[in-house]
Amino acid sequence: MSSIVIISGSPTKPSRSEAIASYLKKYFESKQHQVETINVRDLPAEDLLHANFNSVDIKYRLSQIKQAQALIVVSPVYKASYTGILKSFLDLIPEKGLADKIVLPVATGGSFAHLLSLEYTFKPLFSILGSQQINSGVYLVDSQISYQHLELTFLDDEIKRRVDTALQQLSNQLIENESGRKQF
Ligand SMILES: Cc1cc2nc3c(=O)[nH]c(=O)nc-3n(C[C@H](O)[C@H](O)[C@H](O)COP(=O)(O)O)c2cc1C
Repeated sequence: MSSIVIISGSPTKPSRSEAIASYLKKYFESKQHQVETINVRDLPAEDLLHANFNSVDIKYRLSQIKQAQALIVVSPVYKASYTGILKSFLDLIPEKGLADKIVLPVATGGSFAHLLSLEYTFKPLFSILGSQQINSGVYLVDSQISYQHLELTFLDDEIKRRVDTALQQLSNQLIENESGRKQF
């Protein structure tokens, strides 16, 4: 069984990113993958602020990432990029810490103006962390979704289709990789 870590990068509560993360978790659990979710806003703020590599909480979260085969990062776009709090956590991942992982970036934005932030901010970050398999990301505009607590509703069939296609692709990759591992 492959394991997936979902990082939700919004500092706010409630949050679209968190509702999307919950949708993704349910999807992958229904496909028999093991899923852990990290809400960056729930991590100790002092540890993030001071880049405390010795923090017990941070070390535990990093060990979950280390064990995972895939990482999904869901973040709002803030000022044309990912959020600062997300970056403060990702800064604590060791050099090339995503080398053996598939990464799926998912961004939400107030408009389509920063659609390309997936390409010019999210992807270079995962690349520098060593990931050699960064899937095509998904960008959701606020008007395409609504949420109540953790329950996500798609207001647009096309965006649901794009999200589900990205999830299906990742699930297939993980199943393929796992069957490859079992043969050796
Ligand atoms: C401080 C701040 C900066 C933002 N900057 C942008 C931006 O540059 N481009 C954009 O499309 N949306 C921007 N937004 C809108 C959010 O990305 C959008 O509402 C997102 O879905 C919020 O996700 P969340 O509910 O998970 O926090 C910004 C919102 C905030 C609060």
